[in-house]
Amino acid sequence: MSKDRIIDVRIPGERPYQVRIGRGALSTLAGTVRDLKECRRVVVISDENVGPKWGKTVREYLSGAGFETYDLLIPPGEESKSLEMAGELWSAIADYGFNRDDLIVAVGGGVVGDLAGFVAATYMRGIDVVQVPTSLLAMVDASVGGKTAIDLPQGKNLVGAFHQPLHVCIDINVLSALPDAEWANGFAEIAKSSVVAPRRSFYEWLRNNAAGLVSRDPMLLEEAVYTTVDFKASVVMKDATESNGQRASLNYGHTLGHAIEASSGLGTIWHGRAVAEGMRFATRLAVEVADADIAFVQRVDALLDSLGLPQLPFQLSPEDLLAHMKTDKKARGGVVNFVIAEDFTSWELMAVPDDVLRSHLTAWCQNKARLAAAQGGAQ
Ligand SMILES: NC(=O)c1ccc[n+]([C@@H]2O[C@H](COP(=O)([O-])OP(=O)(O)OC[C@H]3O[C@@H](n4cnc5c(N)ncnc54)[C@H](O)[C@@H]3O)[C@@H](O)[C@H]2O)c1
Repeated sequence: MSKDRIIDVRIPGERPYQVRIGRGALSTLAGTVRDLKECRRVVVISDENVGPKWGKTVREYLSGAGFETYDLLIPPGEESKSLEMAGELWSAIADYGFNRDDLIVAVGGGVVGDLAGFVAATYMRGIDVVQVPTSLLAMVDASVGGKTAIDLPQGKNLVGAFHQPLHVCIDINVLSALPDAEWANGFAEIAKSSVVAPRRSFYEWLRNNAAGLVSRDPMLLEEAVYTTVDFKASVVMKDATESNGQRASLNYGHTLGHAIEASSGLGTIWHGRAVAEGMRFATRLAVEVADADIAFVQRVDALLDSLGLPQLPFQLSPEDLLAHMKTDKKARGGVVNFVIAEDFTSWELMAVPDDVLRSHLTAWCQNKARLAAAQGGAQ
Protein backbone atom coordinates (compact mmCIF):
# COMPACT_ATOMS: atom_id res chain seq x y z
CA MET A 1 0.00 0.00 0.00
CA SER A 2 1.26 3.50 -0.84
CA LYS A 3 1.98 6.04 1.86
CA ASP A 4 -0.93 8.43 2.31
CA ARG A 5 -0.40 12.13 1.83
CA ILE A 6 -1.73 14.74 4.22
CA ILE A 7 -2.86 18.29 3.62
CA ASP A 8 -3.40 20.51 6.65
CA VAL A 9 -6.29 22.95 6.40
CA ARG A 10 -5.95 25.84 8.84
CA ILE A 11 -8.69 28.43 8.67
CA PRO A 12 -8.56 31.34 11.10
CA GLY A 13 -11.16 30.86 13.83
CA GLU A 14 -11.87 27.24 12.85
CA ARG A 15 -10.61 23.94 14.19
CA PRO A 16 -7.81 22.79 11.86
CA TYR A 17 -8.34 19.56 9.98
CA GLN A 18 -6.48 17.24 7.70
CA VAL A 19 -7.23 15.84 4.26
CA ARG A 20 -5.72 12.39 3.86
CA ILE A 21 -5.19 11.19 0.29
CA GLY A 22 -4.04 7.74 -0.69
CA ARG A 23 -4.75 4.44 -2.38
CA GLY A 24 -6.30 2.46 0.45
CA ALA A 25 -6.84 5.45 2.79
CA LEU A 26 -10.25 4.17 3.92
CA SER A 27 -8.56 1.61 6.14
CA THR A 28 -7.22 4.46 8.30
CA LEU A 29 -10.56 6.12 8.86
CA ALA A 30 -11.67 4.39 12.06
CA GLY A 31 -8.32 5.02 13.74
CA THR A 32 -8.36 8.65 12.71
CA VAL A 33 -11.88 9.14 14.06
CA ARG A 34 -10.84 7.50 17.31
CA ASP A 35 -7.88 9.90 17.61
CA LEU A 36 -9.92 12.98 16.78
CA LYS A 37 -13.09 12.50 18.75
CA GLU A 38 -14.37 10.68 21.78
CA CYS A 39 -17.50 9.36 20.20
CA ARG A 40 -19.38 6.12 20.34
CA ARG A 41 -22.03 6.48 17.66
CA VAL A 42 -21.52 7.15 13.98
CA VAL A 43 -24.06 7.40 11.17
CA VAL A 44 -22.82 6.75 7.64
CA ILE A 45 -24.85 8.74 5.09
CA SER A 46 -24.51 7.59 1.51
CA ASP A 47 -26.50 7.20 -1.69
CA GLU A 48 -27.98 4.05 -3.18
CA ASN A 49 -25.18 3.70 -5.74
CA VAL A 50 -22.28 4.16 -3.37
CA GLY A 51 -23.72 2.93 -0.08
CA PRO A 52 -23.87 -0.82 -0.81
CA LYS A 53 -20.16 -0.85 -1.67
CA TRP A 54 -18.25 2.04 -0.08
CA GLY A 55 -20.71 3.06 2.62
CA LYS A 56 -20.74 -0.56 3.76
CA THR A 57 -16.93 -0.76 3.71
CA VAL A 58 -16.66 2.37 5.86
CA ARG A 59 -19.27 1.08 8.25
CA GLU A 60 -17.45 -2.23 8.61
CA TYR A 61 -14.19 -0.47 9.45
CA LEU A 62 -15.97 1.66 12.04
CA SER A 63 -17.90 -1.24 13.58
CA GLY A 64 -14.72 -3.30 13.65
CA ALA A 65 -13.10 -0.54 15.69
CA GLY A 66 -15.92 -0.65 18.24
CA PHE A 67 -18.15 2.21 17.09
CA GLU A 68 -21.92 1.80 17.21
CA THR A 69 -22.86 2.42 13.58
CA TYR A 70 -26.00 3.33 11.67
CA ASP A 71 -26.54 3.90 7.99
CA LEU A 72 -28.84 6.11 5.99
CA LEU A 73 -29.20 5.88 2.22
CA ILE A 74 -30.57 8.59 -0.05
CA PRO A 75 -31.57 8.23 -3.71
CA PRO A 76 -28.69 9.26 -6.00
CA GLY A 77 -28.85 12.58 -7.85
CA GLU A 78 -29.20 16.31 -7.34
CA GLU A 79 -32.93 15.96 -6.46
CA SER A 80 -31.84 14.58 -3.10
CA LYS A 81 -30.28 17.89 -2.08
CA SER A 82 -33.71 18.97 -0.88
CA LEU A 83 -35.33 20.29 2.26
CA GLU A 84 -37.48 17.13 2.36
CA MET A 85 -34.43 14.88 2.34
CA ALA A 86 -32.66 17.01 4.94
CA GLY A 87 -35.81 16.70 7.07
CA GLU A 88 -35.79 12.93 6.76
CA LEU A 89 -32.14 12.78 7.80
CA TRP A 90 -32.66 15.15 10.76
CA SER A 91 -35.58 13.02 11.95
CA ALA A 92 -33.70 9.75 11.52
CA ILE A 93 -30.69 10.87 13.54
CA ALA A 94 -32.98 12.39 16.18
CA ASP A 95 -34.70 8.98 16.41
CA TYR A 96 -31.28 7.41 16.96
CA GLY A 97 -30.87 9.85 19.84
CA PHE A 98 -27.82 11.50 18.29
CA ASN A 99 -26.27 14.49 20.02
CA ARG A 100 -23.16 16.61 19.57
CA ASP A 101 -20.93 13.83 20.84
CA ASP A 102 -21.90 11.73 17.84
CA LEU A 103 -20.63 11.85 14.28
CA ILE A 104 -21.88 11.88 10.70
CA VAL A 105 -19.69 10.33 8.00
CA ALA A 106 -20.66 11.36 4.45
CA VAL A 107 -19.66 8.69 1.92
CA GLY A 108 -20.48 9.71 -1.65
CA GLY A 109 -20.29 12.34 -4.35
CA GLY A 110 -20.90 16.04 -3.89
CA VAL A 111 -24.64 15.52 -3.42
CA VAL A 112 -24.12 13.33 -0.37
CA GLY A 113 -21.32 15.58 0.89
CA ASP A 114 -23.35 18.79 0.57
CA LEU A 115 -26.53 17.30 2.02
CA ALA A 116 -24.94 15.37 4.89
CA GLY A 117 -22.71 18.38 5.57
CA PHE A 118 -25.78 20.61 5.73
CA VAL A 119 -27.54 18.21 8.09
CA ALA A 120 -24.41 18.17 10.26
CA ALA A 121 -24.17 21.97 10.18
CA THR A 122 -27.75 22.40 11.36
CA TYR A 123 -28.62 19.42 13.58
CA MET A 124 -28.37 20.63 17.18
CA ARG A 125 -26.70 23.76 15.74
CA GLY A 126 -23.84 21.71 14.44
CA ILE A 127 -22.37 18.26 14.91
CA ASP A 128 -19.17 16.87 13.45
CA VAL A 129 -18.97 15.48 9.94
CA VAL A 130 -16.23 13.50 8.23
CA GLN A 131 -16.21 13.72 4.45
CA VAL A 132 -15.37 10.60 2.45
CA PRO A 133 -15.75 11.76 -1.18
CA THR A 134 -16.21 9.02 -3.77
CA SER A 135 -16.54 10.93 -7.06
CA LEU A 136 -13.53 12.64 -8.63
CA LEU A 137 -15.36 15.97 -8.46
CA ALA A 138 -16.15 15.56 -4.78
CA MET A 139 -12.53 14.60 -4.08
CA VAL A 140 -11.01 17.64 -5.77
CA ASP A 141 -13.69 20.18 -5.00
CA ALA A 142 -16.81 19.53 -2.93
CA SER A 143 -15.30 17.73 0.07
CA VAL A 144 -12.85 20.46 1.06
CA GLY A 145 -13.72 23.98 2.12
CA GLY A 146 -16.78 23.53 4.30
CA LYS A 147 -19.52 24.63 1.92
CA THR A 148 -22.71 22.69 2.56
CA ALA A 149 -26.08 23.23 0.91
CA ILE A 150 -29.44 22.08 -0.25
CA ASP A 151 -31.33 23.28 -3.33
CA LEU A 152 -34.69 25.03 -3.55
CA PRO A 153 -37.07 24.89 -6.52
CA GLN A 154 -35.87 28.47 -7.19
CA GLY A 155 -32.22 27.47 -7.57
CA LYS A 156 -29.24 25.34 -6.61
CA ASN A 157 -27.46 25.70 -3.29
CA LEU A 158 -29.76 28.49 -2.13
CA VAL A 159 -29.81 27.34 1.50
CA GLY A 160 -26.63 26.31 3.20
CA ALA A 161 -23.93 26.91 5.74
CA PHE A 162 -20.18 26.93 6.04
CA HIS A 163 -19.32 23.94 8.21
CA GLN A 164 -15.76 22.67 8.07
CA PRO A 165 -15.38 18.90 8.38
CA LEU A 166 -13.59 17.13 11.22
CA HIS A 167 -11.55 15.24 8.64
CA VAL A 168 -11.55 14.39 4.92
CA CYS A 169 -10.51 10.93 3.77
CA ILE A 170 -9.84 10.48 0.04
CA ASP A 171 -9.23 6.94 -1.17
CA ILE A 172 -8.36 6.84 -4.88
CA ASN A 173 -9.30 3.14 -5.02
CA VAL A 174 -13.01 3.95 -4.66
CA LEU A 175 -12.99 5.45 -8.16
CA SER A 176 -12.80 2.00 -9.75
CA ALA A 177 -16.44 1.94 -10.90
CA LEU A 178 -17.05 5.66 -11.42
CA PRO A 179 -19.24 6.34 -14.51
CA ASP A 180 -17.67 8.18 -17.51
CA ALA A 181 -19.61 11.43 -17.01
CA GLU A 182 -18.26 11.70 -13.47
CA TRP A 183 -14.68 11.43 -14.71
CA ALA A 184 -15.30 14.32 -17.10
CA ASN A 185 -16.75 16.38 -14.25
CA GLY A 186 -13.67 15.79 -12.12
CA PHE A 187 -11.16 16.40 -14.92
CA ALA A 188 -12.76 19.75 -15.72
CA GLU A 189 -12.25 20.92 -12.12
CA ILE A 190 -8.65 19.71 -12.19
CA ALA A 191 -8.03 21.54 -15.49
CA LYS A 192 -9.65 24.69 -14.05
CA SER A 193 -7.35 24.58 -11.04
CA SER A 194 -4.30 24.19 -13.25
CA VAL A 195 -5.14 27.48 -15.00
CA VAL A 196 -5.68 29.63 -11.91
CA ALA A 197 -3.26 27.95 -9.46
CA PRO A 198 -0.24 30.06 -8.56
CA ARG A 199 2.34 27.64 -9.98
CA ARG A 200 2.54 27.01 -13.70
CA SER A 201 4.20 23.67 -12.97
CA PHE A 202 0.72 22.27 -12.24
CA TYR A 203 -0.40 22.98 -15.80
CA GLU A 204 2.87 21.59 -17.21
CA TRP A 205 2.45 18.40 -15.18
CA LEU A 206 -1.18 18.01 -16.23
CA ARG A 207 -0.34 18.54 -19.89
CA ASN A 208 2.40 15.91 -19.71
CA ASN A 209 0.26 13.38 -17.86
CA ALA A 210 -3.18 13.88 -19.41
CA ALA A 211 -3.05 10.61 -21.35
CA GLY A 212 -2.21 8.63 -18.21
CA LEU A 213 -4.97 10.37 -16.29
CA VAL A 214 -7.67 9.64 -18.85
CA SER A 215 -6.56 6.04 -18.85
CA ARG A 216 -7.13 6.25 -15.06
CA ASP A 217 -3.65 5.46 -13.80
CA PRO A 218 -4.08 5.40 -9.99
CA MET A 219 -0.68 6.94 -9.19
CA LEU A 220 -1.27 9.85 -11.54
CA LEU A 221 -4.80 10.28 -10.24
CA GLU A 222 -3.48 10.46 -6.71
CA GLU A 223 -1.00 13.14 -7.74
CA ALA A 224 -3.65 15.15 -9.60
CA VAL A 225 -6.09 14.93 -6.68
CA TYR A 226 -3.36 15.87 -4.20
CA THR A 227 -2.25 18.93 -6.19
CA THR A 228 -5.81 20.10 -6.83
CA VAL A 229 -6.86 19.70 -3.20
CA ASP A 230 -3.67 21.40 -2.05
CA PHE A 231 -4.55 24.36 -4.27
CA LYS A 232 -8.18 24.42 -3.12
CA ALA A 233 -7.12 24.25 0.53
CA SER A 234 -4.74 27.17 0.01
CA VAL A 235 -7.57 29.26 -1.45
CA VAL A 236 -10.02 28.31 1.29
CA MET A 237 -7.48 29.21 3.94
CA LYS A 238 -7.30 32.73 2.47
CA ASP A 239 -11.04 33.15 1.92
CA ALA A 240 -13.05 30.60 3.88
CA THR A 241 -16.41 32.32 3.53
CA GLU A 242 -16.09 33.74 0.03
CA SER A 243 -15.77 37.26 1.37
CA ASN A 244 -12.56 38.74 -0.06
CA GLY A 245 -12.64 37.56 -3.67
CA GLN A 246 -9.89 34.90 -3.45
CA ARG A 247 -12.34 32.05 -3.65
CA ALA A 248 -13.67 33.43 -6.93
CA SER A 249 -10.75 31.78 -8.74
CA LEU A 250 -12.40 28.41 -8.07
CA ASN A 251 -15.23 29.65 -10.24
CA TYR A 252 -13.11 29.94 -13.37
CA GLY A 253 -15.11 28.65 -16.34
CA HIS A 254 -18.24 28.33 -14.24
CA THR A 255 -20.05 31.55 -15.19
CA LEU A 256 -20.74 30.41 -18.74
CA GLY A 257 -20.62 26.75 -17.66
CA HIS A 258 -23.58 27.17 -15.33
CA ALA A 259 -25.42 29.24 -17.95
CA ILE A 260 -24.95 26.45 -20.52
CA GLU A 261 -26.28 23.89 -18.06
CA ALA A 262 -29.28 26.04 -17.17
CA SER A 263 -30.09 27.05 -20.79
CA SER A 264 -29.87 23.51 -22.09
CA GLY A 265 -31.95 22.08 -19.23
CA LEU A 266 -30.16 20.77 -16.15
CA GLY A 267 -28.66 17.32 -16.68
CA THR A 268 -28.63 17.55 -20.50
CA ILE A 269 -24.97 18.54 -20.71
CA TRP A 270 -22.43 17.06 -18.30
CA HIS A 271 -21.28 19.63 -15.77
CA GLY A 272 -17.62 19.07 -16.63
CA ARG A 273 -18.19 19.59 -20.31
CA ALA A 274 -20.11 22.80 -19.62
CA VAL A 275 -17.28 24.06 -17.38
CA ALA A 276 -14.74 23.17 -20.07
CA GLU A 277 -16.76 25.22 -22.55
CA GLY A 278 -16.82 28.04 -20.02
CA MET A 279 -13.03 27.89 -19.81
CA ARG A 280 -12.63 27.97 -23.58
CA PHE A 281 -14.96 30.97 -23.74
CA ALA A 282 -13.13 32.74 -20.90
CA THR A 283 -9.77 32.41 -22.68
CA ARG A 284 -11.18 33.97 -25.85
CA LEU A 285 -12.82 36.76 -23.89
CA ALA A 286 -9.47 37.36 -22.20
CA VAL A 287 -7.85 38.06 -25.57
CA GLU A 288 -10.11 41.10 -25.90
CA VAL A 289 -10.48 42.30 -22.32
CA ALA A 290 -7.13 41.33 -20.81
CA ASP A 291 -4.62 41.14 -23.67
CA ALA A 292 -4.28 37.39 -23.37
CA ASP A 293 -2.10 35.80 -25.99
CA ILE A 294 -3.69 33.51 -28.56
CA ALA A 295 -1.10 30.88 -27.57
CA PHE A 296 -2.78 30.74 -24.14
CA VAL A 297 -6.14 30.06 -25.80
CA GLN A 298 -4.58 27.25 -27.80
CA ARG A 299 -2.86 25.74 -24.75
CA VAL A 300 -6.10 25.64 -22.75
CA ASP A 301 -7.94 24.14 -25.76
CA ALA A 302 -5.27 21.47 -26.14
CA LEU A 303 -5.30 20.68 -22.42
CA LEU A 304 -9.08 20.21 -22.39
CA ASP A 305 -8.95 18.09 -25.55
CA SER A 306 -6.29 15.87 -24.01
CA LEU A 307 -8.38 15.40 -20.86
CA GLY A 308 -11.32 14.08 -22.87
CA LEU A 309 -13.26 17.35 -22.76
CA PRO A 310 -13.76 18.09 -26.47
CA GLN A 311 -15.57 21.14 -27.85
CA LEU A 312 -19.30 20.88 -27.45
CA PRO A 313 -21.72 21.40 -30.28
CA PHE A 314 -24.94 23.03 -29.12
CA GLN A 315 -27.74 25.28 -30.23
CA LEU A 316 -28.35 27.85 -27.54
CA SER A 317 -29.44 31.46 -27.62
CA PRO A 318 -26.88 34.13 -26.64
CA GLU A 319 -29.61 36.18 -24.93
CA ASP A 320 -30.65 33.18 -22.89
CA LEU A 321 -27.05 32.53 -21.85
CA LEU A 322 -26.56 36.18 -20.92
CA ALA A 323 -29.74 36.18 -18.85
CA HIS A 324 -28.50 33.12 -16.95
CA MET A 325 -25.07 34.67 -16.48
CA LYS A 326 -26.71 37.61 -14.75
CA THR A 327 -28.01 35.26 -12.06
CA ASP A 328 -24.43 34.11 -11.34
CA LYS A 329 -23.48 34.65 -7.70
CA LYS A 330 -20.64 36.98 -8.74
CA ALA A 331 -22.96 39.31 -10.72
CA ARG A 332 -23.46 42.71 -9.08
CA GLY A 333 -26.11 45.26 -10.04
CA GLY A 334 -26.92 43.38 -13.24
CA VAL A 335 -23.26 43.34 -14.35
CA VAL A 336 -21.59 39.99 -14.95
CA ASN A 337 -18.31 39.56 -13.09
CA PHE A 338 -16.06 37.11 -14.88
CA VAL A 339 -12.99 35.32 -13.62
CA ILE A 340 -10.57 36.22 -16.41
CA ALA A 341 -7.18 34.55 -16.68
CA GLU A 342 -4.77 36.41 -18.90
CA ASP A 343 -2.38 33.46 -18.74
CA PHE A 344 -1.74 30.48 -16.46
CA THR A 345 -1.39 31.61 -12.81
CA SER A 346 -2.66 35.12 -13.53
CA TRP A 347 -6.34 35.86 -13.00
CA GLU A 348 -8.66 38.61 -11.87
CA LEU A 349 -12.35 39.14 -11.29
CA MET A 350 -13.53 41.56 -13.95
CA ALA A 351 -16.84 43.32 -14.60
CA VAL A 352 -17.56 42.67 -18.27
CA PRO A 353 -20.07 44.99 -19.99
CA ASP A 354 -23.14 43.41 -21.55
CA ASP A 355 -22.31 44.56 -25.09
CA VAL A 356 -18.90 42.86 -24.97
CA LEU A 357 -20.45 39.66 -23.64
CA ARG A 358 -23.29 39.79 -26.13
CA SER A 359 -21.00 40.05 -29.14
CA HIS A 360 -18.74 37.24 -27.86
CA LEU A 361 -21.69 35.03 -27.01
CA THR A 362 -23.26 35.60 -30.41
CA ALA A 363 -20.09 34.58 -32.25
CA TRP A 364 -19.62 31.65 -29.84
CA CYS A 365 -23.15 30.36 -30.33
CA GLN A 366 -22.83 30.63 -34.11
CA ASN A 367 -19.67 28.52 -33.99
CA LYS A 368 -21.33 25.98 -31.76
CA ALA A 369 -24.38 25.76 -34.01
CA ARG A 370 -22.09 25.22 -37.03
CA LEU A 371 -20.33 22.45 -35.11
CA ALA A 372 -23.70 20.94 -34.20
CA ALA A 373 -24.82 21.04 -37.84
CA ALA A 374 -21.55 19.46 -38.98
CA GLN A 375 -21.92 16.71 -36.41
CA GLY A 376 -25.59 16.15 -37.19
CA GLY A 377 -27.31 17.83 -34.22
CA ALA A 378 -26.75 19.41 -30.84
CA GLN A 379 -24.84 17.32 -28.27
N1 LIG B 1 -19.52 22.08 -1.44
C1 LIG B 1 -18.78 22.43 -2.46
O1 LIG B 1 -17.79 23.17 -2.33
C2 LIG B 1 -19.12 21.90 -3.81
C3 LIG B 1 -18.23 22.07 -4.88
C4 LIG B 1 -18.56 21.53 -6.11
C5 LIG B 1 -19.75 20.86 -6.28
N2 LIG B 1 -20.61 20.74 -5.22
C6 LIG B 1 -21.87 20.01 -5.37
O2 LIG B 1 -21.56 18.68 -5.67
C7 LIG B 1 -22.65 18.10 -6.40
C8 LIG B 1 -22.09 17.33 -7.55
O3 LIG B 1 -21.25 16.32 -7.05
P1 LIG B 1 -20.94 15.02 -7.90
O4 LIG B 1 -20.54 15.43 -9.25
O5 LIG B 1 -20.05 14.17 -7.09
O6 LIG B 1 -22.39 14.39 -8.06
P2 LIG B 1 -23.13 13.18 -7.30
O7 LIG B 1 -22.93 13.25 -5.86
O8 LIG B 1 -24.52 13.20 -7.82
O9 LIG B 1 -22.37 11.90 -7.86
C9 LIG B 1 -22.45 11.63 -9.21
C10 LIG B 1 -22.92 10.21 -9.48
O10 LIG B 1 -21.82 9.34 -9.28
C11 LIG B 1 -22.18 8.31 -8.38
N3 LIG B 1 -20.96 7.95 -7.69
C12 LIG B 1 -20.27 8.70 -6.79
N4 LIG B 1 -19.18 8.05 -6.41
C13 LIG B 1 -19.16 6.88 -7.06
C14 LIG B 1 -18.25 5.77 -7.09
N5 LIG B 1 -17.13 5.77 -6.40
N6 LIG B 1 -18.57 4.73 -7.87
C15 LIG B 1 -19.70 4.71 -8.62
N7 LIG B 1 -20.58 5.74 -8.64
C16 LIG B 1 -20.31 6.81 -7.88
C17 LIG B 1 -23.27 8.90 -7.53
O11 LIG B 1 -24.08 7.90 -6.97
C18 LIG B 1 -24.02 9.73 -8.55
O12 LIG B 1 -24.91 8.93 -9.26
C19 LIG B 1 -23.55 19.24 -6.80
O13 LIG B 1 -24.70 19.23 -5.99
C20 LIG B 1 -22.73 20.48 -6.52
O14 LIG B 1 -23.53 21.58 -6.17
C21 LIG B 1 -20.30 21.24 -4.01
